[in-house]
Amino acid sequence: MATEAAAGAILEVRDVVKRFGGIQAVDGASFEVADGSITALIGPNGAGKTTLFNVVTGFYPGDRGSVVLQGRQVFRQPPHRIARLGMVRTFQITKALARMPVIDNMTLAAPDQPGERLRNVVLRPAATRRREREVREGAIELLEMFDLTRVADAYAGTLSGGQRKLLELRARAHDRAAAADARRAHGRDQPDPRHAAARVHAAAAQ
Ligand SMILES: Nc1ncnc2c1ncn2[C@@H]1O[C@H](COP(=O)(O)OP(=O)(O)OP(=O)(O)O)[C@@H](O)[C@H]1O
Ligand SMILES: [Mg+2]
Repeated sequence: MATEAAAGAILEVRDVVKRFGGIQAVDGASFEVADGSITALIGPNGAGKTTLFNVVTGFYPGDRGSVVLQGRQVFRQPPHRIARLGMVRTFQITKALARMPVIDNMTLAAPDQPGERLRNVVLRPAATRRREREVREGAIELLEMFDLTRVADAYAGTLSGGQRKLLELRARAHDRAAAADARRAHGRDQPDPRHAAARVHAAAAQ
């Protein structure tokens, strides 16, 4: 059945089905996430929560269903494409690089870095340095927003579980629009990590 988009829904998941061989891990799951909300998915062990997150974020191809992110169908799209459209996730077991400082974990995640190709470092040094500066400034802003500035130079492995979850949202480092939104809503002088987390809806739970 076609369903009208709920006003203000940033994410609409409809009738998602995922089987592993004979196991029906997700059997027709539907939900909506309203813009600006914090939404939780709860259920007993083995209920299919992680599988549903994997399908919604493209880590597993779903068997059937629909996932519409800000009006765009992303069902069975690869995770990197979905992430670029603005939906990022964390993992049940956090995947930050433990033996790398927090600030480097942040900059690593930003896309379109010409310095990742040696050729550009040699042939386009100015553009490479400019992008690096931009990525670093973006990362510092995000650390402020997530209240992680104090631990910028600490190894990621020394963070608490909650801080590590926030660090995992680093894939948003490139999303200046979301950072600007969060700042506008809360004012630059009082960065509130809860608001930032609310902007990334589906990523916060797992
Ligand atoms: N990669 C996989 N291959 C085969 N079966 C899987 C796979 N991943 C999950 N399952 C099965 O799918 C079902 C749902 O598992 P899932 O991990 O999604 O549950 P969950 O709600 O996240 O549980 P938990 O609360 O323990 O994290 C379980 O029966 C599980 O054994
Ligand atoms: Mg799980």
